[in-house]
Amino acid sequence: MNPVPVLAVDGPGGSGKGTVCRLVQARTGWHLLDSGAIYRALAVAAGHRGMDDGDGDAVAELAGSLDLSFEPDAQGGGVRVILDNTDVTEELRSEGTGSLASRLAAIASVRDALLERQRAFRKPPGLIADGRDMGTVVFPDATVKVFLTASPEERARRRHKQLKEQGVNVNLPGLLQEIAERDRRDSSRSVAPLMPADDATVVDTTGRSIESVVDSVLGLLGRQCRIR
Ligand code: C5P
Repeated sequence: MNPVPVLAVDGPGGSGKGTVCRLVQARTGWHLLDSGAIYRALAVAAGHRGMDDGDGDAVAELAGSLDLSFEPDAQGGGVRVILDNTDVTEELRSEGTGSLASRLAAIASVRDALLERQRAFRKPPGLIADGRDMGTVVFPDATVKVFLTASPEERARRRHKQLKEQGVNVNLPGLLQEIAERDRRDSSRSVAPLMPADDATVVDTTGRSIESVVDSVLGLLGRQCRIR
């Protein structure tokens, strides 16, 4: 059994996962895996090569050899994503990239090719794993599993605010539709569909402050292992 504790945080886009994970990281000093960023980087790499979800074998091969690293952002305090020696942090965030990521993520061989890359993030003192299948597939033995949800309208509003803050212009009704489509695809795919693990705690974040959600998650974690 792997002794390094894992907090698995799964849920749809806009459920607050990213923010909750970053705040929990600040409070615990644990490592962070943003698995969505890996799928998004793959989408960027595939897009640059003119590949789409019809090119399963080629995309799986690309996934296995992705030249990808995460580097601390000296200015923003966040993370910069470097793909093939190029900073693709901004390109990663668009809904177009999210949509292609979601289509490629439905291919079983692509998911398999990314498994070990994700598991390699598990290092002492612990890992916070943000994604769709962290508690079900990648870390089935996670110490604590949380599944965050929120109403579709609230999730679209949050994504809209986030994208606006990042200088990306999108209209809310269009975003709501894209998010609904991505959720439908993520939840209905045959491999690693978006769903809570049997032993996950489901937390509805609709109308809740981020601080109160972080407190709930830290409470669950503190019951299972020592956090600083
Ligand atoms: O979380 P984020 O919106 O960045 O993820 C982009 C897409 O990557 C998701 O819509 C999903 O299809 C895919 N994904 C996945 N499994 C994960 C993380 C992301 O299938 N663990």
